[in-house]
Amino acid sequence: MQGWIPLVPDSASTFSWKVDALYFYLSGITLFFTLLIGTVLIFFVVRYRRRTPYEIPRPVAGSHKLETIWTIVPFLIAMTMFGWGARLYFEQYKAPDNAIEVYVVGKQWMWKLQHATGQREINELHVPVNRKIKLIMTTEDVIHDFFVPAFRTKADVIPGRYTTVWFEATKAGRYHLFCAEYCGMNHSGMTGSVIVMEQREFDDWLSGNVGSTTPAAAGQQLYQTLGCASCHGANGEGGRGPTLAGIFGKDQQLQSGQTVTVNEGYIRESITNPQAKLVAGFGPIMPTFQGQVSEEQLVQLIAYIKSLHAEGQIPTVAASPSPTAQPGASPTRNIR
Ligand code: CUA
Repeated sequence: MQGWIPLVPDSASTFSWKVDALYFYLSGITLFFTLLIGTVLIFFVVRYRRRTPYEIPRPVAGSHKLETIWTIVPFLIAMTMFGWGARLYFEQYKAPDNAIEVYVVGKQWMWKLQHATGQREINELHVPVNRKIKLIMTTEDVIHDFFVPAFRTKADVIPGRYTTVWFEATKAGRYHLFCAEYCGMNHSGMTGSVIVMEQREFDDWLSGNVGSTTPAAAGQQLYQTLGCASCHGANGEGGRGPTLAGIFGKDQQLQSGQTVTVNEGYIRESITNPQAKLVAGFGPIMPTFQGQVSEEQLVQLIAYIKSLHAEGQIPTVAASPSPTAQPGASPTRNIR
């Protein structure tokens, strides 16, 4: 799993060469200035050494020209690092719309993953090659960090929040997955693998691993069990809470006069702390569900709300990443 330089991990995503290029640029600059300063230092030590015991050095006046140069040149160099790094950062943390979504829940000390088609995995993630994969991540306990060195993908996983990161693997194979944030006794054991497969193999894997409800269908069930629908039915039945169908990704007008974009984080907050951002026109009557729903259940409720289109019906698993038919992947068949 080694690349052409020792200690540099394998390169297996569309980001890896970009991150490497920036990394080598930084290393190159560091090396250049280290050598330059070292050489000049040695030269000065020899050239300006004390030659007689009572020698007094000649006084030196400052030079504005020199000071301006050694301020502006490093500034410009630092800005190239900033500009390049910022560009890469935005590219990596702003997921494209057409990515396949995978939910990730970290926990001391394992990774729990679920595909939009329902398949669950622990410490393993199967993905197709050359497809954009978006991870929507949170944790049940402390901060973890999802790190796949071969993809140069690394993002903190934070309690009470969703972080997202995306990647596109370019080479089939099995790659290390690490937790890169110290999270307690077995932090070093919180490892796993990302298995990148050819699309056809991945489709086989998907259809061979049915047996779990899709997150959206599980969310729908939960939505009924928790009695959410009595106040806000998908299409506004109940009438005591805002309509949920089609709100995902839209702006919502709040009681406070502000607006908020409905994303995973906002929905999560509205379930665990409903009073925080009340929708305009509705009273503070919703009880909190903090502690009653697990992180995985929150993810399922969110998946359900995301799946509701304006008509309010759960689509026939449009989230399926594969164009081939998946027997058993329909939400109605595998409800446990
Ligand atoms: Cu989880 Cu370190």
